[in-house]
Amino acid sequence: MAQKLAFRPFRAIQYRILRRSQIRRTFLFAVQAGSSLVRSLLASLTLLAVAVAVAVPVAAAQKAQMSVDVSKAGAKIDRNIFGQFAEHLGHGVYEGIWVGPDSKIPNTRGIRNDVVAALKAIKMPNVRWPGGCFADEYHWRKGIGPQRTVTLNPNWGGVIEPNTFGTNEFMDFLDQIGAEAYLSVNVGSGTPQEAAEWLEYLTTAQPTTLAKERAANGHPAPYKVAFLGIGNESWDCGGNMTPDYYLSQLKIYSRFVRNFNPAQQDKQQMLKIAVGPGGSESRWTEWTDAIMKAYQNHTWSWDMNGLSMHSYTVVKWPPSFASVGFGETEYAQILKSTLEMNDLVEKHSAIMDKYDPGKKVALVVDEWGGWYAPLPGSNPGFLAQQNSLRDAVLAALNLNVFARHADRVRMANIAQMINVLQAMILTDKEKMVLTPTYYVYKMYVPFQDATFVPATFDAGTFTHDGITLPRIDAIAAKDKAGKLWLAITNVDPNQSAEIEVTLAGMNAKSAAGETLSASKVDSVNTFDAPNTVVPKPFSAKAQDGKLTLKLEPKSVTAIALEQ
Ligand code: AHR
Repeated sequence: MAQKLAFRPFRAIQYRILRRSQIRRTFLFAVQAGSSLVRSLLASLTLLAVAVAVAVPVAAAQKAQMSVDVSKAGAKIDRNIFGQFAEHLGHGVYEGIWVGPDSKIPNTRGIRNDVVAALKAIKMPNVRWPGGCFADEYHWRKGIGPQRTVTLNPNWGGVIEPNTFGTNEFMDFLDQIGAEAYLSVNVGSGTPQEAAEWLEYLTTAQPTTLAKERAANGHPAPYKVAFLGIGNESWDCGGNMTPDYYLSQLKIYSRFVRNFNPAQQDKQQMLKIAVGPGGSESRWTEWTDAIMKAYQNHTWSWDMNGLSMHSYTVVKWPPSFASVGFGETEYAQILKSTLEMNDLVEKHSAIMDKYDPGKKVALVVDEWGGWYAPLPGSNPGFLAQQNSLRDAVLAALNLNVFARHADRVRMANIAQMINVLQAMILTDKEKMVLTPTYYVYKMYVPFQDATFVPATFDAGTFTHDGITLPRIDAIAAKDKAGKLWLAITNVDPNQSAEIEVTLAGMNAKSAAGETLSASKVDSVNTFDAPNTVVPKPFSAKAQDGKLTLKLEPKSVTAIALEQ
């Protein structure tokens, strides 16, 4: 991002501190009618209740209409938009995933069992690894075999990088959680040969020296590598390259870094993702233009299937918003900022359309999420932050943007999976807690590979402290079994919403699913109180042919409609 450039004060010491009631009293009042004492007590209580009801204003639900035409099918919402990102950064990999085989924390070959179980439950499609900025200083050979080379992690706190979590461990982790590999190769400080040999080590079925080394390291069969990222932010931490210089590298890496897996030659070919923009300013539009123009004129000898885009919700660099302990103004500011994702996607999609009207190249939003101030007392280079109800709303709004642009946005990776930035999971030694963002990913599982169905609705607005936001956001999709799903976010922190759903092509009699909300915009799950923000069952029945959904303030709801 452009702003990031102005915030690079610690390069000299190779240390990067970066950017980042309805008074409902359920009196179970078992009374014997007939007692005058009880009658007068009841009368007094009734008067008191009426008085209190008058004294305490109860926000009226905001009403909105929504119509969904089930017969109108849009693009497939690629499951890969629910991808994750795991960088060697802070406790993202070490402690978050890897504890080592000798750890007392229950693990399988060094990988935490609790984390694996949690990630399997959200059906993660892919994981991007090993970075981020880390990728352009990563040398894969230091992370294979019985003897690992101990190095440094100059990007992220200057700490020791033990390289105990390397290629085989990452692929084992993916196998355990059932996700596909999105490898970022080192373009900044590596060579095409180093990257080509990494892919040979991983993918060849032929008995080459590298394949034998892979077998000696415990994996005779070739691995599948579904996605290859060619560089990371090459305009910045990846080498400060100009578009032309990067293009020259892209062509070389695209040509020589081959996937040899026999199962990936005709079908399931590895998709190559080029570095793309990091914002909306002209340097980014020029970057997208240059790469896509080259793509339009590409020859047989190089290709690309995706253009990466990075966009964090930060408001301004360095990240100064607190991740917990904030109020409704900060809630509104962050959500206003996150909604800029829509314009950013449209801006770069329009440039891509110019050179690729057939939409062969995917826009891959492979770094996004809320980036806040480091938690007090944490290493600022570890990008540790809490994850609140605000993040759940933020996640839903962005996933909805991606789904609405499913024809172009076919992959996205939230940053980052565990213990870093907008994480799914937080760990502290043997403890683990699932974040509000995790639960949104869980609730959105039915949208993976579902077919987008247009929903029209009156979003309405609410204004807080001079900041105006849409009150409602929603997407609809049909899953593979033909079931219609709705995901609706009530952004308003104080007022509930009543949505009257009209369906064309379907007579819905009921709706059932889950809703996620909490008492405060900054409610969080902690190791001591892990269930503050967890989904609750949600259901509604049609009355007089009308299906009305009553949504809590600041909530995300995902429901299936039943005929
Ligand atoms: O996600 C943290 C960092 O943000 C990544 O390493 C880099 O690509 C981006 O600048």
